[in-house]
Amino acid sequence: MLELYGQCHGSTVLLHGGAGGQDPKTPDTVSKATAALKTSAAEAIKALNAGLDPMQVLTQVLGKLEDDPQFNAGTGSALQSDGQTRLTAAIMDGARQSFSAVISCSYIKNPSLLAQHLQSESSRVLTNPGAELLARKLRLPVASSLTEARVNDWVKKVPESGCDTVGCVIRTAQGRILVGTSTGGRGFEFPGRVSDSGTVAGTYASKFAGISATGIGEEIVDDGLAVRLETRCRDGWTLEKAGRLAFNEAVALKRLYGWIALDAEGFWNAAYTTAAMSFVVFDGKKGLVHGSK
Ligand code: GLY
Repeated sequence: MLELYGQCHGSTVLLHGGAGGQDPKTPDTVSKATAALKTSAAEAIKALNAGLDPMQVLTQVLGKLEDDPQFNAGTGSALQSDGQTRLTAAIMDGARQSFSAVISCSYIKNPSLLAQHLQSESSRVLTNPGAELLARKLRLPVASSLTEARVNDWVKKVPESGCDTVGCVIRTAQGRILVGTSTGGRGFEFPGRVSDSGTVAGTYASKFAGISATGIGEEIVDDGLAVRLETRCRDGWTLEKAGRLAFNEAVALKRLYGWIALDAEGFWNAAYTTAAMSFVVFDGKKGLVHGSK
């Protein structure tokens, strides 16, 4: 477990690749994930500094992580108990305080892209049949997220390992905050179980702060984690004070989760109560500020 705090001054990108327990069979899981996060964060910062729309940057980063089978999101997601993958992704634009999500989609390559499209719709949280119907209407890539490795894990009943959910929190140089989270869920869960990532407990942003959570979704929902952290910042607490209390509460309750968070002034917080969490903090001026080993 760990809690870290700092401040960035330009555009900022925080990414996590999950706070699952480390799989003893693959001790390099976290370092491999961190390397991929570093590459994605560096690309995102470059795009932000070049003036690309931050929402586009957010979906590009999430799409890239969803396409990387080492993460439990998009391609390579964990299978539920019936052998199906059901993907969830949420996006929140802090400036508009607008949340959108897709829940339990099996045949959408990049659920984060569909969640982003829903930002401008009147129905902003969709599950099936609507989510898959809309994806076809928008001609988004259709794909199974099954990979041989995950199917083998399911057949052998190997529990979901070190890397679960992926998340991204962006702050532009002007202080606009955007958040996105994408997940394949816990693995082996009851079919149709809803992940915290598709709720405001797992993904939340406002003009005050943005948070993406990872770990045991039921505990994240029980604690209303992301929206609770944001509320404390909104009510005048510093992110450090809010993050520290959330961390202490999580430890006291023996929770197994983690999060990345940013506020409008560039203060950041990364914390987890699990054995490990892959994450990076990237500053537009200084480059890599922090990353899991
Ligand atoms: N945090 C991912 C999940 O529990 O679904």
